[in-house]
Amino acid sequence: MKRELLKWCVGAAAFMAPAMADAQKNLQVNVAAAKADIQPTMWGVFFEDINQGADGGIYAELVKNRSFEFFKPLMGWNITRKQFQEGDLIIMNRADKPANPRYLQATVKNAARGDLGLTNEGFKGMGIKNGLRYDFSVMYRQAAPGVKLYVELVDSLGKTYGGTAVDLSQAGQDWHTAKASFTANATVPKGRMRVWFEGNGVVDLDMISLFPSDTWKGRPGGMRADMIQMLADMKPGFVRFPGGCIVEGYDLDQRYQWKKTIGALEDRQLIINRWNFEFAHRPAPDYFQTFGLGFFEYFQLCEDIGAEPLPILNAGMACQFNTAELVPMEDLQPYIQDALDLVEFANGAVTTKWGAKRAELGHPEPFNLKFMGVGNENWGPQYVERLKVFTKAIKDKYPDIKLVNSSGTDPNGDRFDYLNTELRSMNADIIDEHYYRRPEWFLENARRYDNYPRTGPKVFAGEYAAQTDKVVSIHNKNSWQAALAEAAFMTGLERNADVVTMASYAPLFAHAEGWQWTPDMIWVDNLRAYGTPNYYVQQLYSLNKGNKVLPITLNKDVVAGQDSLYASAALDTKTKEVIVKVVNVSGKPQQVNLDLKGVKSLASQGKLFLLQSNDLNVVNSLEQPKNLAPVESSIAIKGKAVKMEAKPYSFSVVRVAYK
Ligand code: AHR
Repeated sequence: MKRELLKWCVGAAAFMAPAMADAQKNLQVNVAAAKADIQPTMWGVFFEDINQGADGGIYAELVKNRSFEFFKPLMGWNITRKQFQEGDLIIMNRADKPANPRYLQATVKNAARGDLGLTNEGFKGMGIKNGLRYDFSVMYRQAAPGVKLYVELVDSLGKTYGGTAVDLSQAGQDWHTAKASFTANATVPKGRMRVWFEGNGVVDLDMISLFPSDTWKGRPGGMRADMIQMLADMKPGFVRFPGGCIVEGYDLDQRYQWKKTIGALEDRQLIINRWNFEFAHRPAPDYFQTFGLGFFEYFQLCEDIGAEPLPILNAGMACQFNTAELVPMEDLQPYIQDALDLVEFANGAVTTKWGAKRAELGHPEPFNLKFMGVGNENWGPQYVERLKVFTKAIKDKYPDIKLVNSSGTDPNGDRFDYLNTELRSMNADIIDEHYYRRPEWFLENARRYDNYPRTGPKVFAGEYAAQTDKVVSIHNKNSWQAALAEAAFMTGLERNADVVTMASYAPLFAHAEGWQWTPDMIWVDNLRAYGTPNYYVQQLYSLNKGNKVLPITLNKDVVAGQDSLYASAALDTKTKEVIVKVVNVSGKPQQVNLDLKGVKSLASQGKLFLLQSNDLNVVNSLEQPKNLAPVESSIAIKGKAVKMEAKPYSFSVVRVAYK
């Protein structure tokens, strides 16, 4: 037996009651005793630009380093020339555009196609689809017309797959934008884009861009539809954005500043992504944040998929694992102003400064922001000191906004205890808890919230994922073992929905070649995306949320590990269904009798959604995206009881209509 499986069994055994393992388990569900509400926000998603989540991920831009602002200005670009001419392609750095200082200047002399060109390698290549339209655009400036561009898609051997000429017809001191579209004539997983110069003259180029036309909702310059569809398919209650550690930044200069992420793309100042250099074992020297996706786009995404926006803002503190830079208290005001202005940007009337900005960007209606986080994984008295000032200022102006506060990096220990106590004494709205722990921890902590205070702050399980090896190990897998442990643990979140009002797995996305952190919920390459077993666990919870918690017991105790079983129950008062989730973390089948009390009658058939494998090491992959995925079947019901088999290593969701 492998080491991790042995540990798993030891962890699970800790919960085994001395009862006969194979006797029928009678789980009592009292449908008449609906307890707390399950909030619509209960199951959400955590988005961060890590693992190529945004640039090279959901942001569908195919060109890497489109504005030459990476530390190495030509990173991602290769020059092709027939004959070397001194100074034919140079990078200029202007003083009057601090947010976008660099551009490319091309001096072209009697060039024909094939003489002088630039090739962009994309983010680990460009995913090109046969028959799809591609939209090219470029900002240019020239004293006189004379240069033409020819843009084409190529593979690593230089074979072309479609292209078009691009006229640069405007002249003078100003910058202009040229656009051209063409259709690709083959599918190429790792294509590139080449731009040839033709003619004579000197031309300045910036913001060289290529987008597929099949973006989410067909928005030009938008998001990768297949990735967003996977989120929409979860019907998440909220989207937390933009992170994660990138909120804090390596230092304060590199913190996330939402105001720099809205408006014209060429004015959104690029910064290095802190995951560029965070892990020596996963260096990503070409990882920057272009902010092509910014706060406006994130709010719009939330609206598209019916999720509450949950922006997290910097609390005046850089990442405490990195520089731990602090803003002195007397300089905190601009940070607080950013928070106040964000509420106005999201909710303010179009007559307000920031509401007008929202309208100018195309969304006069408010985004209806209800939640906001101050600080991500911050800790210590310095956090509390800053948070108090933030809280007062925000609550004075916007008393209805619910604030999410950090309880640090871990779900226990001195830092957690200190913050938990402080935040509770401040009567915080919502405390954000993070747990990246081994699967056994998730099993052992299924009762974590059973004894939490029922009054005071609510809990946001803001980042969690079972680590099959250890945190930050490259060996962590999105295996069934991890997902099953999370499913077991989540019964405890649902059971305690009066305390836990929000939860999100983290991180969300990873590119198969561009990741820094594993495990992750959804993996992609340039053309494909797949959900891990963890994704399907999250999706099953979210799609089968219900709106009231029901008590479910085994021998009068909550079902949290006895004989390796975990269970929770909910009511959907709109569809008039009882929803029961049963997790069996043992390798043996168990006969379960769900005794539903307090109903007049049950439908004669219910639905069963089953996620199951006898192999705890099973994973999904790009080649086998649904190796493990839920299977729906019907379940016959007699009287007021549902008899089911909790299969070995299984997560079952049963839905039964009641009267
Ligand atoms: O999810 C990855 C990282 O884990 C997040 O950025 C951070 O908040 C946590 O430490």
